Amino acid sequence: MDTDSQMGKRAVILDVDAGVDDAFAILLALASPELEVLAITTVSGNVHVDSTTRNVLRILSLLSWGGLPVVAKGEAAPLKKELFTAAKVHGEDGLGDLGDDYYPPLDWGLVSAKPAAGLLPELVAARPGQVTIVSTGPVTNVAKAIMKAPDLMAQAREIVVMGGAIDTAGNIPPLYAAEFNTYVDPDALDRVLKSGIPVTLVPTDVTHGVCLTRDKAREVLTGPGNAVSRFAFDCAQKYMDFNLASEGIDGAYMHDPLTVATVVDPSLVTTVPRRIYVDTREGMTRGMTVPFRYPDNVEGTPNCRTAVTVDSRRFLRMLLGRIGSSR
Ligand code: BDR
Ligand code: CA
Repeated sequence: MDTDSQMGKRAVILDVDAGVDDAFAILLALASPELEVLAITTVSGNVHVDSTTRNVLRILSLLSWGGLPVVAKGEAAPLKKELFTAAKVHGEDGLGDLGDDYYPPLDWGLVSAKPAAGLLPELVAARPGQVTIVSTGPVTNVAKAIMKAPDLMAQAREIVVMGGAIDTAGNIPPLYAAEFNTYVDPDALDRVLKSGIPVTLVPTDVTHGVCLTRDKAREVLTGPGNAVSRFAFDCAQKYMDFNLASEGIDGAYMHDPLTVATVVDPSLVTTVPRRIYVDTREGMTRGMTVPFRYPDNVEGTPNCRTAVTVDSRRFLRMLLGRIGSSR
């Protein structure tokens, strides 16, 4: 018997800190017939959760079809650390500062009365063994939900996390030891990895291999009459400006859309089982994801899978094909 939903779709909850690449990830998920998006939960990360929640509603306001998922506002701060944001990268509002007038009126009625950490266990337990949580921000909501309702959350099929920098550089100066999502809430990722729920990490080892250049984005996304793809291009401009100024790269890393894409089509990446430790201490290596390297030792028993290679051309084709045609 098919353990997925009746329609044969994979049931997912998107847990986002809606900045620019989260926006691409949401659009990709909603344009993917393989997925059934049960809810979008929001968290502080790229910007404060008040803004990430508004950003999700802004993105949904551009979509001209019904049946939009429920939105649940989540945690305002990491489990133990103070919030650290990336407004310099994603814009003060998290979506490239296009201004409120850019968007159709927002449907605040989509926002659930329940907070994310309350809704997550409820949705997971409603479909035991079926629901995949795709987290593209700090995993604070997921960790809180696990702390609150471990037995219900244990019924999740999988948690797929954009996070970590394992055999490569992260993106947090000065050492580039850590990746942003893990840096913001290392204690939350530590919790999630200790939960026993199957976890897949999509780290910068693969996401730094998927850069959407400004030229390609302009070519595919700015055709006439498609407000959704136009928005994707417009909101990415500041992000691309930042990358150009800081790294000489005229484009945007598609960290979060790749994470969604691995659920749509797992063959886009290869993964390996590993034991990952998270540095939860303050200091130069805060948020570093360190793999256990000594073979055949019980201390190294895997606690997740991590993505190690990616077919970037096939991924970018999927992303642009789907976002370019979403209405
Ligand atoms: C991650 O950090 C955020 O700025 C992006 O949205 C992505 O989730 C990449 O390190
Ligand atoms: Ca993100």
